[in-house]
Amino acid sequence: MKLFIDTANIEEIREISEWGVLSGVTTNPSLIAKEGRKDFEEVIKEITDIVDGPISAEVVAERAEDMIKDGEKLAKLHKNVVIKIPMTSEGLKAIKGLNEKGIKTNCTLIFSANQALLAAKAGASFVSPFIGRMDDIGNEGMNLIREVADIFAIHGIDTEIIAASIRHPMHVTQAALAGAHIATLPYKVLKSMLTHPLTDKGIEKFNKDWEKVK
Ligand code: E4P
Repeated sequence: MKLFIDTANIEEIREISEWGVLSGVTTNPSLIAKEGRKDFEEVIKEITDIVDGPISAEVVAERAEDMIKDGEKLAKLHKNVVIKIPMTSEGLKAIKGLNEKGIKTNCTLIFSANQALLAAKAGASFVSPFIGRMDDIGNEGMNLIREVADIFAIHGIDTEIIAASIRHPMHVTQAALAGAHIATLPYKVLKSMLTHPLTDKGIEKFNKDWEKVK
């Protein structure tokens, strides 16, 4: 399973990319707004300079033709830019239109296996089922990943599944076991995957023992 970072914060992306674990980045309008940046295209360009992998940039238009126009403009920023399109009927039309122009899309806000199937049939390169937001309303978000992964495997669908809306490290392990191809993680989840008290304790003991023989 590949790991993406889910942020528009350049410092966070730079820090984690130095670990050598990042295969891509996802952003959304809320994440860009959180950084207080109005220069959306500049943010995306800065990210493409740091990470060499798919960088999802979301369109906010609602009509297919506008999404296609905005998507084409964003795709010109860099070859790695993937256009994030919401799961609506207009979104499906935009996915089809962009796919015909050779532009990759990531269909976002997926909350059912049928939505994922529709996005894949329309030609999406990626689908993003949202785990945390499903959990928030009392559903088991991970079941969605499992269902989509099974359906895509049974039918040989090559659209990649991005486990999104991840809230904690257990979501990452579970998404990997459930068959997600990618998990997109907030900075704080990536940081918390790194640490374990027994690792810290082990390092401390090794250092102390080594001091004794020196
Ligand atoms: C995915 O691409 C989305 O940006 C993201 O995972 C949404 O997560 P949230 O539910 O924590 O906002």
